[in-house]
Amino acid sequence: MALRAEGRTRSIGVSNFQPSHLDEIVSKTGVVPVVNRVEVHPFFANSDVRATNARHGVLTEAWSPIAQGKVNDDDVMGELAALVGKSPARVALRWHIQRGDIVFPKSMHRERMQQNFDLFDWSLTDAQMSSIDELDLGPAGRIGPDPDVFDWIPS
Ligand SMILES: NC(=O)c1ccc[n+]([C@@H]2O[C@H](COP(=O)([O-])OP(=O)(O)OC[C@H]3O[C@@H](n4cnc5c(N)ncnc54)[C@H](OP(=O)(O)O)[C@@H]3O)[C@@H](O)[C@H]2O)c1
Repeated sequence: MALRAEGRTRSIGVSNFQPSHLDEIVSKTGVVPVVNRVEVHPFFANSDVRATNARHGVLTEAWSPIAQGKVNDDDVMGELAALVGKSPARVALRWHIQRGDIVFPKSMHRERMQQNFDLFDWSLTDAQMSSIDELDLGPAGRIGPDPDVFDWIPS
């Protein structure tokens, strides 16, 4: 906040903020972060956090957007991928984009990095989007730690 007040940064971004954290930072500082980067992928839609982000006008950025590659092994994702002629990973990334989220995928392969940018001249139908929505397992689908109980500063 101090850097922003000094004009040394234009925007504040946060990561792994739960609804209570976001409400608190906005009410105590009056500053609305531009982006909140949180775990989101087909198996963990993180709906509460996305809804809170939307309520504040904060963009959601999905980390582990392809569930660390686990979408590649899912039958539904495989069927959709075959239908649209793209890999399951790219179908998952397109699902995020159509939901209005920013994606932050990782790959060690140049070819896949290039493919992961190729998301904007094709789309999923509403029915295909719904099929992916149905893969949400809620909190059981998390890959990473729950920010509400994670021991951020190990003793
Ligand atoms: N802010 C936070 O708390 C937080 C927490 C976790 C992660 N992150 C960040 O989020 C970023 C992404 O997360 P992540 O690495 O955990 O998971 P991810 O991006 O969902 O998945 C990465 C895995 O997907 C594979 N992959 C990537 N593109 C693919 C494609 N087109 N086709 C098939 N497989 C593909 C990669 O394999 P290859 O490498 O073999 O291509 C890798 O095994 C990372 O940079 C990480 O630092 C942030």
